[in-house]
Amino acid sequence: MEFTGQTAIVTGVARGFGRAIVRRLARGGARVVAGDINLPGAEETAALVKSDGGEATAFRLDVASAESVQAMVDLALSTYGNRVDILVNNAGIWKLTPTEDTSEEEWDRIVNVNLKGPFLTCRAVVPIMKRQGRGHIVNIASIAARNGGTMAGIHYVASKGGVLALTKKLGKDLGKYGIVVNGINPGTGQTEMTADWPRTTLEGIIKGTPLGRLVEPEDIADAVAFLASDAARFISGETIEVNGGLLCD
Ligand SMILES: NC(=O)c1ccc[n+]([C@@H]2O[C@H](COP(=O)([O-])OP(=O)(O)OC[C@H]3O[C@@H](n4cnc5c(N)ncnc54)[C@H](O)[C@@H]3O)[C@@H](O)[C@H]2O)c1
Repeated sequence: MEFTGQTAIVTGVARGFGRAIVRRLARGGARVVAGDINLPGAEETAALVKSDGGEATAFRLDVASAESVQAMVDLALSTYGNRVDILVNNAGIWKLTPTEDTSEEEWDRIVNVNLKGPFLTCRAVVPIMKRQGRGHIVNIASIAARNGGTMAGIHYVASKGGVLALTKKLGKDLGKYGIVVNGINPGTGQTEMTADWPRTTLEGIIKGTPLGRLVEPEDIADAVAFLASDAARFISGETIEVNGGLLCD
C-alpha cells in the first residue's frame, strides 16, 4: 500500500470530501489524525476507518485556532511515530451573502477557517517535514477561486484564491527540503455543503459538465491520494482541477 508507515493529518473530516479523504488515505495504509470542529462526526469517520481495517484518531479541531492546530499536530506526533508525512487542508465553510450585506464578523470567520487555517497547519507541520526531509501537503481550494464562484460570497471566493497563492508560495519555498505542496480545485460537489442549493442551479452545472455529473467525494479523495503519493514527487506549487471538464484551460 502506497502510504504504509506514514502519518497523515486531515482537517474537516466529519463528512463530505474530508471523510472520503481520510478513508482513502487509511485504505492506502496511512495512520490518520482526523480533525474537525464536529467531534462526533470525526469520531464516526474514525470508526468507519476502523471498520475498513485502517487506523485513525479523531480530534476536536478548530482550524482557525493556533493552539488547537498545535494540539492536533502534537497528538499526531505522540500517537503515530513522531512524524507527519501528509497534511491535507480540507476544512472549509461557505456562505452566499451579497457583498454589501457581508459583515466584518462573517468575513473574518470564513477567511480565518478557509485561509488562516491552512497557514496555521502548514506553519505547525513544516518544521517536522523539514526534519524528515520529506512531506506532502495538499490544499483543497475551489473552482470558485478560478471562475469567481457560482453560489459563493466574496469572502469564500477570496479565501480560496488565497489558498491557491499559499500553495504556490509553499511549493516554491519548501521544495529544497523535499516537501511537495499542491492543491485541488473541486467543482461543485455532491456534499452537505451544497445540499440546499436550488435544484435548477445544480442541474445547470451538471448540464455544463462534459462528464455529466457533480463531483463525488471519492473523486477528490483519489486526487488527494495521487498528490500525497510519490507518484506526484515532481509536481509542486500546482493546483489541479477536479470538475469533470466544466472549467479547463
Ligand atoms: N462541496 C463543494 O461543492 C465544494 C466545491 C469546491 C470546494 N469545496 C471545498 O472542499 C472542502 C470540503 O467541502 P465539503 O463539501 O466536504 O464541505 P462540508 O461542509 O461537507 O465539510 C466541511 C467540514 O469542515 C468542518 N469544519 C468547519 N469549520 C471547521 C473548523 N473551524 N475547524 C475544523 N473543521 C471545520 C465541518 O465540520 C465539516 O465537517 C472545503 O474546503 C470546501 O470549501 C467544496
